[in-house]
This record gives sequence, structure tokens and C-alpha cells, in this order.
Amino acid sequence: MATHPTTLDRLDRPLRDLRISVTDRCNFRCTYCMPREIYGAAFRFLPHAELLTFEEVTRLARLAVSLGVSKVRLTGGEPLLRRDVEILVGMLAAIEGLADLTLTTNGSLLAAKAAALAEAGLRRVTVSLDSLDDAVFARLNDVAFPVARVLEGIAAADRAGLRPLKVNMVVRRGLNEQSVLPMARFAREHGYVLRFIEYMDVGHTNGWSLDEVVPAAEIVAAIDAELPLEPLAPQYPGEVATRWRYRDGGGEIGLIGSVTQPFCGSCTRARLTAEGMLYTCLFGTAGVDLRAPLRSGADDDALRTLLTEVWADRTDRYSELRSAATRGLPKVEMSRIGG
Ligand SMILES: C[S@@+](CC[C@H](N)C(=O)[O-])C[C@H]1O[C@@H](n2cnc3c(N)ncnc32)[C@H](O)[C@@H]1O
Ligand code: SF4
Repeated sequence: MATHPTTLDRLDRPLRDLRISVTDRCNFRCTYCMPREIYGAAFRFLPHAELLTFEEVTRLARLAVSLGVSKVRLTGGEPLLRRDVEILVGMLAAIEGLADLTLTTNGSLLAAKAAALAEAGLRRVTVSLDSLDDAVFARLNDVAFPVARVLEGIAAADRAGLRPLKVNMVVRRGLNEQSVLPMARFAREHGYVLRFIEYMDVGHTNGWSLDEVVPAAEIVAAIDAELPLEPLAPQYPGEVATRWRYRDGGGEIGLIGSVTQPFCGSCTRARLTAEGMLYTCLFGTAGVDLRAPLRSGADDDALRTLLTEVWADRTDRYSELRSAATRGLPKVEMSRIGG
């Protein structure tokens, strides 16, 4: 077997995952991500010419794979809004050495696209859904998007074989805690892996405060009281979700507790924005422009050296340091960096 290349950062963390945002646009205005007061009619989204082309994205992904990346996740904004995204999926799926190709979506366009995405080589999908209750979901997505249409998307992905199918639920105190148990029952019934995400202080526009975070431990306790749980060991080093399984064998859940249980020590992710800025932390304050060298004719060796240097210099561990000292820093918004 060929040895897997390894590029280490200054804290000895290997580069293994690349998250690629393919658009900064979204058809939702989730209050925790793209509040409409900021992302209203006057907001200037990236013009098409500023987005990396599919060829540029594929070239960077191929170079990242040659440095040790084995998993690519497409995200956004809403990635299914990027025209012909299934063509990009096909181009990425053809990269030798890429073991896992997935995508995170709000599910709104998934019913129409699931079969084409699977056909193009997408392996699996994560769908975000914060409640099964239309009134609660509308308050979160802020565009009155009906739950039923996301459920149609999830069912279409399941039929297309995009499994294991994960569902992401952000829990925000005072807004959707009451949806935790109904969502757990729903996911169990259908064999989906539900992952609860603590509301995070990504960017600045969402007005985050710690009071609105429902700690992962509290979510586990609430579910365990009705549907008894037991902890599961991590599947691989660097897994961000802590996993629990139902004692009766009815599947598992994951908790992404980046606020109360930071996992920076094992973080192996780099993030590429739609316009080609590379960030080495979700809470990054400064990215490195890859589009400029791409468009000024840099060859593969020069790009590979740049990627290696950026990763080798990495010391980020924002979630572990989250404190008064980091609060005021200019962080990148979630809709640009893609979660
Ligand atoms: C930025 S979205 C992009 C992909 C797609 N639009 C979606 O919603 O799945 C990726 C993930 O980040 C989550 N997210 C966005 N803002 C967040 C925040 N402030 N805290 C925690 N998770 C957040 C979303 O719920 C979603 O699961
Ligand atoms: S979380 Fe996803 S669906 Fe919601 S506004 Fe952000 S990018 Fe759009």
C-alpha cells in the first residue's frame, strides 16, 4: 500500500481534511449564520468572476490530496446554489487518493439534485435541519422554508444511496431546545445519524452570546432521560463529534461541542473560501490568497510549496483559547468559510 503523505503543523497536527466553499450565497437567512439585517438586499455577494472555477478548485484539491488530504467536503453558503455543482463533484471524485467526498447542504434543493450528485461520485451528504416544527424552523431559517421540503431532500438522498446520512442540528437556547427529542426520535426511526452542534461564535454578525449555547452535555442528558445512551469510542483520531449510541441498538448520535468541549488539539482541517482564500481555522482572522497565484500562472510545485508553508506555520487553537483576548478579533463569517 502506498504510504499516505503527511504534512504537519506546528502542533504536529496532520493536514487531512479540506472544506471547500463553492458559493457565498444562500437562499436561507439562518439567524445564527446570515442574519437578514446584514445579508439583506444591499449586501454585495461575490461576482461570478471572483469565484474559483471548477478547474481551479479541482487543481487545489488535487494538490491538497498530494499533501495528505483524504477527505473533501463541499459547503457554502448553500453549495447546491452553485450552478452545475455536480460537474465539480465529478471532477473531484476522479482525484486519485481522495477517499471521501461529501457535501453539507440545507437540503432545500436536494430532492432535485440527489440522484445527479450520487451519479457524479458524491459518497454521502450531511443535511442541516434545526427542527421538525414549521414555526420553529421558520424562526431559524428566516425565509419560512417548510420542513417537509427538507425532509423530501433527505429522503431523496437516502434513496440515491448517499449514506451514512447525517443530519446537523444547531441548538440555540430559547429557540429550538424543545426540538431536540423529536429530532432524535425522527433520526432513530429513519437510521440517520443526528449531530447536535453547539451554537458557535463564528464571525460577528450573529451577535453570539454564551447564554445561547446549549452545552453538549445537557443535550446528552435530555436524550438519555428518555432514550438511554452509552458513549462510543472515536472512529478515527481527530473525529470532532463525540458519539453516543442508544442502548437498545437504535443507532447513534454525535455532539459537536466546539464551545464547551473544544477539539483543537486534533484538528486536521483546512478551509477554502469560494474566492480562494485558505483558512486554517474556522475562527480564522486572516486567510491566504490562493487565487492570485493560481491566476498569475504559478506551477504545481509553487502552489504545493505555498500550501505546505501555510499548514506548517499553523498554530491555531481558537476554541481552546476562547477568551476575552480573542473576542474582539476580526473573524471570518460562517457563510464564507462554510462550517
Ligand atoms: C455554514 S453551513 C453551509 C452549508 C449549508 N448551507 C447548510 O446549512 O448545511 C454549514 C453548517 O454550519 C452550521 N452553522 C452555521 N452557523 C453556525 C453557528 N453560528 N454555530 C454553529 N453552527 C453553525 C449550519 O447549521 C450548517 O450545519
Ligand atoms: S447555515 Fe447554511 S442554510 Fe443557513 S444561512 Fe448559513 S449557509 Fe445558509
